[in-house]
This record gives sequence, structure tokens and C-alpha cells, in this order.
Amino acid sequence: MPDPRGDGYVDEIPYTHGYHAAMNPRLMQWTVARAGFQPPEVHSACELGFGRGVSLAIHGSVGTARWQGTDFNPEHSRSALALCEGCEPQPKIYADSFAEYFARPDLPDFDFIALHAVWSWISPENRARLVAFIRQRLRPGGALYLSYNALPGWQPMLALREQLVDRAEAARQGGLPISAAIRQAIVELERLAPEHDVVLHSLKRRSASYLAHEFFNRDWHPMTPEAVADELAAAGVRRICPAEKQPSATFRSEYWLRDAAALDSATQQSVLSRFKILDWSGVTPEPLVLQEGWSSSAADAPETVVSVCNARQINRQLLALAERCAEPSVLACPATGGGLELGWVTLLFCSARQRGFEGPDAWADHAQQRLEALGQRPIDQGVVLEGGMMVRRFLREAAMRFAEQTLPRLRELQALD
Ligand SMILES: C[S@@+](CC[C@H](N)C(=O)[O-])C[C@H]1O[C@@H](n2cnc3c(N)ncnc32)[C@H](O)[C@@H]1O
Repeated sequence: MPDPRGDGYVDEIPYTHGYHAAMNPRLMQWTVARAGFQPPEVHSACELGFGRGVSLAIHGSVGTARWQGTDFNPEHSRSALALCEGCEPQPKIYADSFAEYFARPDLPDFDFIALHAVWSWISPENRARLVAFIRQRLRPGGALYLSYNALPGWQPMLALREQLVDRAEAARQGGLPISAAIRQAIVELERLAPEHDVVLHSLKRRSASYLAHEFFNRDWHPMTPEAVADELAAAGVRRICPAEKQPSATFRSEYWLRDAAALDSATQQSVLSRFKILDWSGVTPEPLVLQEGWSSSAADAPETVVSVCNARQINRQLLALAERCAEPSVLACPATGGGLELGWVTLLFCSARQRGFEGPDAWADHAQQRLEALGQRPIDQGVVLEGGMMVRRFLREAAMRFAEQTLPRLRELQALD
């Protein structure tokens, strides 16, 4: 029986282990300042609908802000808690529905409220609750991070999604579990609607967890940016800038401010000069915005020690998880207070090293063994690699690059010892 507290949101399959850097307060501050606005100091922050909680666990234990968050799926709150087990401080993790959480009498005011991939998948009533919560709880000058499925980009998918849901529902009534019902619906539609073959083929490559949460909730409401702004006007926030470098036609992520204060160019330069950036083009997809006061030479400063200990603790959990599930792709990084996007295969190399295997050949062997055990094939520049020899060559080269480039940098950032 679905949990009625979720208002029609899927809870039979847990979500994927994604990390979303845009919710790192430090990256938000830098992006907002670059857009010409005064970013808030972030002491207190909140993530709504945190999924498996990778972002919340990392930001709440490795960054400097006090975080809390809620997700009504108890499997999700258990995952989030497990990731930061043993960390001090830890985020406060609730398994409340939004309605329950917003009604709590003990909530503080927040400098930053963040929700990724939630807005388009909840009911209009829940969106109204959310807007009221932001109005009540976001401090003046505070920031909101919000992402959503956008129109007109999703327009061509609206009718196709209806058909997918109807067919999957019929298959479930016939006794299939949700993941098999979704797969069957996609295969049927490939036959019946060949004009959508490219989209349907790409869906076949996504995990059942992703597909169930993306398409099979009762609510699925892509919106134009204007419609989102109309609803959020009642929260007293204003759209400031995209949170990602290249906004896509189908998915937008944005920063909003309450009582936005524009910076003149001299003040903007002075605000930006307080950020320290590492540009590791080619190694990390985004420049790394360092935590305030971070320097590896200040390794003995109490805040640095706490960040390093907590990052190592979370990374042990992430590496253990990567051994049994092909999803996690980040490590917690004390230098940035956020997650470092490395990819699952790189996490397997880190795990092999942590298990005492020595050198790139042994790390590649370990990764290949885990790939085979989990039925995964590596993807090289968009091509799925078939055959043991090809996979082996790819993994050896990747392990060599890891040894030469990535590992020394992870150690410099104190993400690994
Ligand atoms: C598409 S998932 C995104 C998860 C996560 N933010 C991420 O991007 O990895 C949406 C999340 O919102 C949660 N959610 C949906 N409706 C909710 C409600 N009414 N109360 C609390 N959580 C809810 C779901 O359990 C799910 O984890």
C-alpha cells in the first residue's frame, strides 16, 4: 500500500544515490555573487525531499552550515542517516511528509532552502505548502535553490508519459512488480510508437529507480519558468540566475533570493575576492569553490580537523556502497564542504586501494570484478564497452590516470588519506 502521507508520490522503489553540487552553500554564494547579488551568510539550511540523502549527509557533516531536511520515504531517511553515521556534527534528518514537517513547532529560520527534483513531482497542494513554508522560514536576504522540469522542453513527452503510465499501470494490475511493469511499458511503446524510438531507447538505459520517480508519480507537472515565478511570487523570492552552467530545455535549476540586493561592481569585486577557487579543468567538471578559511596547511585548525574526519567517515560509507551498487559517483571533500564528482569506476579504484590492493593493475582487476558481479559495462565517450579485453584495457588506462592525476589531488584536498 502506498504511504498516504506522500500524496501519490512513488514509495515502492527507493530513489538513486545522486549528489547535487548546486546545494553546496559555498557554490551558491559564489554563483549568486558572480550574478551581481549579495549572497547570504549560511548558518542554517534545509533540504526538502532529499532522496537517498547523499547531498544532505555531505553538506551537513563536512560543510560549515547546520543542515536539516525531510523525506517521507523511511528507506531514504535510513540511507541518509547511514551515510553520516559517526559524524559530529550531523544534519537533522526527518522522515516527515512535507505537511508534517512544515507543521513542526521547533523549526528555525533558514538562510538557505534547497530542493532538487521535487517541485515538478508533487501536487499543487504541496507546492502551495512549500511556498508558504518559504515565505515563513526563509530569512530576509536568504537563498532558495529550486530545480524543475521545464516547458516547452517537455511538451513532446507529455502525451508519451501518459501512455507509459497507463501501460505500466495495466501491467501492474496484471501482477507485475513496478520495475518490470515500467520496462514492459517502454518495450510495448517502442513497437507501437516508433516515432519516439530515440527517447524510448534512452529511457531503457535508465535505472528502474530513476524511471519510477521521474515518470510514475501521480503528479508530474513540467512548468514554464514564468509559471514557476508566478507561484513563487507569494513566497517573496526573486529568480536570480541559473545554478548550472548550461541550462537545458527540459530541466532548470535556479537560485532565488528573498529581498535581493544588487551589488555595484566595486562591491561585487570585493565580495568575489573572498572566494578561493581551484580550476582543475579536465579533472573536475566545475571549478572548485573552497570553504572559507580552508588551506591544507591549516590542517590542524579545529574546523578543518572536523571536516576531514567527517569526510573520511562518509567516504568509507560511499566506497562500501559503491561495492554493492553502481550508483554513487562522488566523494565528500573537506576542502569544498561538498561532494567531488568522480564517477563510479573511480570510486571502485579508491575502494580497491582502501582494501589494500596496490597499484593500477590491481585496482583495475578489482573494478572489473565488481563490474561483472553487478552486471555493469563501462561507458567510454558514450560507447558501451563490450568484451573482456576492451573492458580490461579501458580500466587499466583509467586506473593509470587515476594514479597519476586524480589520487594526488584527492589527497591534497584531504578527501582520502
Ligand atoms: C525525484 S526525488 C529527488 C530526490 C533528491 N532530491 C535527489 O535529487 O536525489 C523526489 C523526492 O521527494 C520526496 N517526496 C515526494 N513527496 C514528498 C512529500 N509529500 N513529503 C516528503 N517527501 C516527499 C520523495 O520521497 C523523493 O525522495
